[in-house]
Amino acid sequence: MPYARIITIDGPAGCGKTTLGYRLAEELNYSFLDSGILYRAITRHVMNVGAKPHQLDSVQAYTETLTLTIKKLRPRFQFEINGKKVSKLNSLQIDKLVPIIAAYPFIREKVRAMQREIAAQGQVIIAGRDIGTVILPDADLKIYLDVSLEERAVRRHAKQNTEERSLDQVREDMRLRDIADATRETSPMRAATDAVIIKTDGLHVDEVVATVLQHAYIEPENED
Ligand code: DC
Repeated sequence: MPYARIITIDGPAGCGKTTLGYRLAEELNYSFLDSGILYRAITRHVMNVGAKPHQLDSVQAYTETLTLTIKKLRPRFQFEINGKKVSKLNSLQIDKLVPIIAAYPFIREKVRAMQREIAAQGQVIIAGRDIGTVILPDADLKIYLDVSLEERAVRRHAKQNTEERSLDQVREDMRLRDIADATRETSPMRAATDAVIIKTDGLHVDEVVATVLQHAYIEPENED
């Protein structure tokens, strides 16, 4: 296989990690995990069971016995929490609460275990905030997508469906989430020192895919 076995993609909300991840998975015939959905699903679970998201004790009590199980990796990743599928993971309320839940170290531990289990299978692309720095520091290729807040906000605003937020609101919500994700004590969002940083402002996804594939290609060793 002449391509990196494990590819990580980190970067802020709305930077295009998921679109890039699915495209690469298609090109390489790899599995793709968007780790953000695990934090979103745990946040939904916390809301469903009536825990108080801002109170560590409450979240801890309600998630102590929480189990995350992989159901399927391909073609689309599927998982369960306590034996059940969790849905409706993209609401505005989840956007607001997920950085709080994702900052608890005991939550990150549960998610870390699942991510490493998936990576151990190889031929996988994992996207998130701390994948290249904390989860898989030995990954073969680490990508960090860097895009201006303005471009991310414009893209997200154009895509919103049910909620009617102004561009200013979308931009402000994203700015606050960036700060929460980048300044938390445990596994803050950051580029690994050996990551390939791709600034995608004004780039088409095809150009980003082509750049990553170039970096992912491993020259076969000469056998002479
Ligand atoms: O990528 P996303 O917007 O779906 O991520 C949701 C939240 O989960 C985000 O606010 C930060 C958190 N997250 C994280 O802390 N670490 C990851 N590897 C992925 C997501």
